[in-house]
Amino acid sequence: MAEIKQVGVLGAGLMGHGIAQVAAQAGYEVVLREVDEQTLTKGIHKIEKQLARAVEKGKSTREDSEAVRGRIHGTVHYRDLAPCDLVIEAITESLALKLEMWRELDEIVKPEAVFATNTSSLAVIDQAASTGRPGQFVGLHYFNPAQVMKLVEVVRCVTTTDAAFDVALQFARSEGKLAIPTKDKAGFIVNRLLVPYMLDAIRAYEEGVGSVSEIDDAMKAGAGHPMGPLALSDFVGLDTLGSICDVLFDEFRERRFAQPPTLRKMLSAGWFGRKSGMGFYDYSGEAPVSNPGI
Ligand code: 3HC
Repeated sequence: MAEIKQVGVLGAGLMGHGIAQVAAQAGYEVVLREVDEQTLTKGIHKIEKQLARAVEKGKSTREDSEAVRGRIHGTVHYRDLAPCDLVIEAITESLALKLEMWRELDEIVKPEAVFATNTSSLAVIDQAASTGRPGQFVGLHYFNPAQVMKLVEVVRCVTTTDAAFDVALQFARSEGKLAIPTKDKAGFIVNRLLVPYMLDAIRAYEEGVGSVSEIDDAMKAGAGHPMGPLALSDFVGLDTLGSICDVLFDEFRERRFAQPPTLRKMLSAGWFGRKSGMGFYDYSGEAPVSNPGI
């Protein structure tokens, strides 16, 4: 299998822009693809902001930050991913959209390249089997913010070859990440444990155990978590959380994975957390305040 020099990243959203930045920081040439110029520019601006902040804080030199930026090539065309050695998708968490995308890319990207999905919960095999290279298909699951969180879950599905799995493990390690191998079971390790915890926090709120801020403050001060579970739900995105629990519930049929009514109503209202400005907290002011509507 070819040495990885060029990495394709599909999607410049919450996860994709971070995945692209981390790869470029590790010295890889990155082709970052979005559906249109406006969305692409938004993602690249986020990266530029992070790189500028690193220079301001003295964590990086201007030259290094410019070199990282120079390694990221934005595009709206699949054809620009043709020479990539590894392609990581971080598009919307919809199996139908992902399959449509892989069908197009499979024809374009060189046959020896490895494909990876950053899915949070969908079965990796369902995507692998839709391509002509099911042996060269893995999960590379990054955590938000990808630039900061140490972990990458490296997911092996039933068709993944040893060689492709090793390429993925070595790649994640070369980015300075802690690469933990996991099996292709819904939620892998982290979301299988973290999602029921976040859902339980919503149920605790519904049962009046504490207010939104009391639940969050309690878990920060009592369990040493950097964020409380409701702030974390907003941070992950309530739409993402909702779709992960639907997949987990469908797979395991256990109540602990079911969407609590409050989450369901918030999604109907279009409250997706930080990304939409409203979730368990209202983000429209200087500092987040509890959302009075829930
Ligand atoms: N992008 C890049 N860097 C960021 C960032 C972002 N979005 N947010 C914060 N950072 C950096 C800051 O620049 C700062 O860097 P520095 O130490 O070099 O100065 C550092 O992270 C700490 O940031 P802050 O001082 O602003 O704030 P905090 O100390 O509160 O840390 C946090 C922010 C890292 C987000 C921390 O609150 C945290 O770890 N929260 C938990 C995050 C978590 O659990 N993520 C996993 C979610 S689950 C998931 O992603 C799986 C998916 O499938 C759902």
